[in-house]
Amino acid sequence: MTEKPSILSMGPDFGADFQAKLEELLVWRRDVRHFRRDALPEGLLERLLGLAALAPSVGLSQPWRFVRVISVESRARVIENFEAANAEALADYSGDRAALYARLKLAGLREAPEHLAVFADLAPEAGQGLGRRTMPETLQYSTVCAVHTLWLAARAAGVGLGWVSILDPQRLTRDLAVDEAWRLVAYLCLGYPEAEHDDPELQRQGWQARAEAGPVVLTR
Ligand SMILES: Cc1cc2nc3c(=O)[nH]c(=O)nc-3n(C[C@H](O)[C@H](O)[C@H](O)COP(=O)(O)O)c2cc1C
Repeated sequence: MTEKPSILSMGPDFGADFQAKLEELLVWRRDVRHFRRDALPEGLLERLLGLAALAPSVGLSQPWRFVRVISVESRARVIENFEAANAEALADYSGDRAALYARLKLAGLREAPEHLAVFADLAPEAGQGLGRRTMPETLQYSTVCAVHTLWLAARAAGVGLGWVSILDPQRLTRDLAVDEAWRLVAYLCLGYPEAEHDDPELQRQGWQARAEAGPVVLTR
């Protein structure tokens, strides 16, 4: 005899309205580099980080580690790090591409009210190693899942997030003096965006258009 599922085990019915809203959220999620300077309301960042921690992780290892970068000194080091890495990146381009690159705003580090450095702990006790024997990089992938969950939760709350990867990760890790087993996955700026858009800024600036044909999907 098969058991009837109880009402409780069925979970919520998200329904068509929610699905349409979710699609809107995905369309309007943006990488933000232009922030208003006003602070987030008390407790909002903590709430968003709690939602980020609902992300999937290999073996339930929950390897994400968040560092709130708040001191003037630490932020100044991050900005110096970014400016050096950005100047080196610019030097790799020439001609019109270099001119275009130089005009791009690739981080909102000076304006964003919140900075978060996100690390993956490469030696977490949680998870007991499950799922990462052949693919240890799944710890970083899990951390990216948390970043993306944070990105969506932030956008749903009207908060913009900008991902900054134009940084020397070893220098940043040293400057923030974190555990040796932690590897930098992302440096994030958060705050209210100056404007909302449904298309990527890099597309609007003429750097790179979205693929019109959709994602590459093979069959075997
Ligand atoms: C792993 C990763 C690193 C990124 N690093 C940077 C960065 O250093 N500077 C920047 O301006 N944008 C960065 N971005 C944002 C991308 O440029 C952006 O996601 C892309 O242009 C598409 O725009 P959208 O996020 O608004 O859809 C990064 C995004 C990801 C996922």
